[in-house]
Amino acid sequence: IEITWSYEDAQKSGFKHFMLKEIFEEPMCLVSVMTGRIKNGKVHFEELEGLKERLKNINFVKVVACGTSYHAALSFKYFLENLSDVNVDAEISSEFRYKRQHLKPNDVVIAISQSGETADTLESVRLAKRQGATVVAITNVVGSTLSRESDFTLYLNAGPEISVAATKSYVSQITLLYLLALKIMEIKGIWDEKHEGLIDRLLRMPEIFEKFLDQVDNIHQIAAKYKDFKHFMYIGRGYGYPTALEGALKLKEISYIHATAYPAGELKHGPIAMLGPDFPVFAVAPNDFLFSKTKSNIIECRSRKARIVLLTNEGNEEAFELADDVIFVSNSIDELYPILMTPAIQLFAYYVADELGLDPDKPRNLAKSVTVE
Ligand code: G6P
Repeated sequence: IEITWSYEDAQKSGFKHFMLKEIFEEPMCLVSVMTGRIKNGKVHFEELEGLKERLKNINFVKVVACGTSYHAALSFKYFLENLSDVNVDAEISSEFRYKRQHLKPNDVVIAISQSGETADTLESVRLAKRQGATVVAITNVVGSTLSRESDFTLYLNAGPEISVAATKSYVSQITLLYLLALKIMEIKGIWDEKHEGLIDRLLRMPEIFEKFLDQVDNIHQIAAKYKDFKHFMYIGRGYGYPTALEGALKLKEISYIHATAYPAGELKHGPIAMLGPDFPVFAVAPNDFLFSKTKSNIIECRSRKARIVLLTNEGNEEAFELADDVIFVSNSIDELYPILMTPAIQLFAYYVADELGLDPDKPRNLAKSVTVE
């Protein structure tokens, strides 16, 4: 017998690339990250028993991370700040480590790193610990340096991520951070029916992802139309902003198209000057409480003749009037769009790269884990 496939092909389970395989693993990752952590409508983290007392009166959390993990940190900031009285300061590790910090022994620092080996994040953790803060690690790799050096560790349980560009780990990170935020609120005594509703919806998320992933052809077709542009502007407001940042990062990483991301309200402070027929806009705009604001921004972009790809939710009747191309996700509540919209921005970047004949698993000049400065 002659075997015509390699070991690597076998690992890809029939998918063309690891990146695509890993996006398709997201429903499973959502299940894994929630398993054992939700009981009777409440969040459980046995790993955090020793931190409970400290969390009771907490009103400030610092988060450090790099790259995609930093964008997960930003989603956490919007979520926890919108639902509680806790301030969240999310900072890029390479900035955090080189400026004066004023942490106090009661402070909690959350360090997020898929690999648990990113040099700047590890140095940030060391600095935080020297100042007496308590560090909670969020990582995917059991026994990683980050987990060993932190006081508490929450694992993503997403399984190995081979493709250089982070995909499934990002979905797991946001979900885990949302659970952590809900736990903090429960410990602080800020808990209402809305939070139980959120947990119910999180539990239904794997099924919603499965359905979404059945319609990848639409995203593929749209990506094929935009593959030859040299620039892309991602915009979003509120919960849409971290998703816009992550969308632009994915496109840059694997397709080498120049992509930039702005809060939609910032457009008029400079970036709109760049827009025109050669500079399309990818708008992350669910029909949430900020939609009317983002809609005005989209209209401004159109008046500069920029083409618009709109990522929004089903039932948004204005979508086709506003945009040249539309990607719909399921209708949900504002807080959950950062999770729901993630596969769409990842698949868009993936198909652009694939259409350009690039290998999204091994982008030039990039490493999966940056263990040196
Ligand atoms: C590298 C990877 C990114 C990743 C970043 C942070 O730059 O290419 O995909 O987001 O490192 O990695 P970490 O393992 O700390 O999450």
